[in-house]
Amino acid sequence: MSVGRTANREPDAMADAPGRVNMLGEHTDYNDGFVLPVAITQRTFVAMWRNGTDAFSLYASELGQTVRFSFDEPPTEHFASYVYGCLMLARAQRADIPGLDIEVRSEVPMGVGLSSSAALEVATLRCLRQLLDLPFDDVVIAQIAQRAEIEYAGVNCGIMDQMASSLAGTDRALLIDTRSLERRDVPLPEDSAVLVLDSGVARTLAGSGYNQRRSECEQAARELGVSSLREVQSLEAIEKLGNDVIRRRARHVFTENARVLQALECSDAAAFGQLMNASHASLRDDYEVSTPELDLLVRWLQAEDGVFGARLTGAGFGGACVALCRTDAVQQVAQSVLAKYNGAGHNGRQLVPAPA
Ligand code: GLA
Repeated sequence: MSVGRTANREPDAMADAPGRVNMLGEHTDYNDGFVLPVAITQRTFVAMWRNGTDAFSLYASELGQTVRFSFDEPPTEHFASYVYGCLMLARAQRADIPGLDIEVRSEVPMGVGLSSSAALEVATLRCLRQLLDLPFDDVVIAQIAQRAEIEYAGVNCGIMDQMASSLAGTDRALLIDTRSLERRDVPLPEDSAVLVLDSGVARTLAGSGYNQRRSECEQAARELGVSSLREVQSLEAIEKLGNDVIRRRARHVFTENARVLQALECSDAAAFGQLMNASHASLRDDYEVSTPELDLLVRWLQAEDGVFGARLTGAGFGGACVALCRTDAVQQVAQSVLAKYNGAGHNGRQLVPAPA
């Protein structure tokens, strides 16, 4: 990895972790539901050097920025709060974290719904595990990473992204039951490949309606008398909710969980694709986290020969969409849709497969 000031010294520890794209199961994780992410090839790399002090210096090569902080003086820069959170939580488990020079390089595109923050958290914790020989397994790493995001970056997220970054592979999806954290590998349908296009509309999770959606779900669960929307047994109960917004939020979560479970039974790509299309409609109409640009991209993707299905991926409110394509059609689909989309004055780009 290319390093700055510390270029002449071998790091004391190095680690990395991937971003992820979620195929199905959106906004279900904080409702104890099911998700189906796959890791992407782009990764975040972290290197650490003991610096003999009790302070930290964090250099992010993509931002060309160095931030200095200590346990008592937290960083004010948002990106540094993810690392600070991991250090604080690791310290809470094991008291003596030495002062460190830390360098970060990331291939994971930021702010588009591919979990650049989870990749940074998981890579940081893996690096600390290696440096200090910490007894954290991959699930514990995901759990600490999620707490770092909630407690230090201000996003009341579920555990999907951190579990995916810590445990998923790039060649198959990982079904996660976010209530029990049980998981199993799910091969993608034969002769299909994943395409991710960025809508070019930036998204800020903490500033968006994400936390609001989460409290709407909690309200729905309270009104239904269950501990989480995962526990709801039938759509009929949801349809009886008096408040239209709360009813639609709950309906999305219920139908989305059902779609993930149905996907496990799908052996063919066309059926899987239909579930992705239905997921997008639900995220657009019931959950209201799509944007006009994402709707346009998804519509054009769905209209392409060689596309089985498409939907927004991640939290929404901007960011990227994912399509399941015929393997031999991926590049052609990307070119054709991006030509139309950018021709209409937008700023789309291909994210997965990573452009050469
Ligand atoms: C973000 C959160 C996840 C999940 C998705 C929506 O990526 O970090 O926990 O809730 O949004 O599915």
